[in-house]
Amino acid sequence: MSKVLIIDGGGRGNAIAHAFSKSDKVEQVFVTPGNAGVYEYGGKQIPLQEGSKKERISEIIEKTEDLGIDLAVPGPEGWISAGIVDEFRSKSDIPIVGPTQNAAFLETSKCDTKDYLDSIGVPVPEYENFDDPEEAKEWAEIFYEENPGKDLVPKADGIAAGKGAFVCGSLENAISAIDKISSEDFNEEYDDAGRRIEIEERLHGEEVSFFAITDGETIKPFGTAKDYKRRFSDQEHSFIDKYFDGINPNTGGMGAYSPEETGEELTDKIMSEIARPTVENLEENYQGILHFVLMAVEENGERQPYVLEINVRDGDPEAQARLPRLKSDLYEIYKSVVREELSQTDIDWSSKYCVSVCAVSGRPWEDGKPVDGYAGYPGNYYSKQPIFLRGEKRKRVGKEGIGKHVNGFVYHNGTDLHQGYLRSRGGRVLTFTNLADTLEEARQRTYSDIEGDDGGVFFSYMDYRKDIGK
Ligand code: AMP
Ligand code: GLY
Repeated sequence: MSKVLIIDGGGRGNAIAHAFSKSDKVEQVFVTPGNAGVYEYGGKQIPLQEGSKKERISEIIEKTEDLGIDLAVPGPEGWISAGIVDEFRSKSDIPIVGPTQNAAFLETSKCDTKDYLDSIGVPVPEYENFDDPEEAKEWAEIFYEENPGKDLVPKADGIAAGKGAFVCGSLENAISAIDKISSEDFNEEYDDAGRRIEIEERLHGEEVSFFAITDGETIKPFGTAKDYKRRFSDQEHSFIDKYFDGINPNTGGMGAYSPEETGEELTDKIMSEIARPTVENLEENYQGILHFVLMAVEENGERQPYVLEINVRDGDPEAQARLPRLKSDLYEIYKSVVREELSQTDIDWSSKYCVSVCAVSGRPWEDGKPVDGYAGYPGNYYSKQPIFLRGEKRKRVGKEGIGKHVNGFVYHNGTDLHQGYLRSRGGRVLTFTNLADTLEEARQRTYSDIEGDDGGVFFSYMDYRKDIGK
């Protein structure tokens, strides 16, 4: 029997750990730094010391040895780009599944990734890279002059917690996005992510999150999802204008459903025109997950996929919406990646639908008025709010977890236990998830887990999108 360590502090880590815990080859799942979500599926949380990522990687390697771990899986890109896979490989015999630091550029630099994809013939939107925001603004002005009816999406080159891309509807929006990305505030908050700017044409079509998994030799599809990245639904315009300069802000993801049907033809096209060439042309041997954010655009009666973004890891909340549908054993799949035997491993999915909705820390109100200085996630928000069950059962939830009180699964994005009770700790707090035969049924079950008088869950200032899967 095996012991697995997931290195992740959020909802995706919960979903990956939950999937591993279902394997009859896995004795115990550990999550580091984890959160109070481990109690939902019998995991163990391994806290980490404060310190730089490099120092914490050494601490993680030490702990894996003490705990007798035999497979490690990093969740977020931060660990991967800090070189956790390289460090494990050079300092430990414990296998880790993920790409190396060099391959992480696919996520950490939008400018270099678009150049790479373009150079190997993978379809991307028309784009330009800039070091100078003034030049970027001049280029945007000319673009809008020469292309009436078209729009732009300015993006910070680096990682900005999913908040570095601005889908614009006008030149004014584009200029204000470039100003924001190049501002000192933004660059202080996101580690100079906006010192370079990638600007691309806004495409219109069906967006899909397409996942692939590879052992370096074989690459296989690994499920699809539709992520709701924007903070608000399109109905909430007055709020967007008032607090977010007219641009509906992107977030890490407000919810997702799976599958997003791509059909055989589009799937084959994505694999042959995008996924395979991306892996095969890299200098590095890539192992692990590739998460492609694609736009399928109608061209001459066919759906043509373009790459908007690549992530070098699973998605949050896409993992929460995809992995409950996985029928195959996740441990076997990851082990076959390590052994470079993915070609011999089948990956089967349930035909059921899954809907995941993220409950976030919203804008606080007092005496009928919004409290000044708080925009709510993805802006600043209140934290440390106790989590309650609604209705007659109105009471605080402790170590027994929330899943026990609702229909579906509850993955924790940001929670901790305080004096024995759960409370919020972060912008995204909980991901409510349900499986059902139809999308609509999964949707209803998930919303009733949040809103239901008997079984619903809340914390002060909780907010969530009401249109996931609609
Ligand atoms: P990114 O951070 O590059 O994934 O962008 C975040 C989100 O912005 C994507 O999930 C899309 O919803 C949207 N987006 C990014 N690029 C484009 C584009 N070229 N056209 C339309 N929407 C886009
Ligand atoms: N939900 C978007 C991401 O994980 O990148």
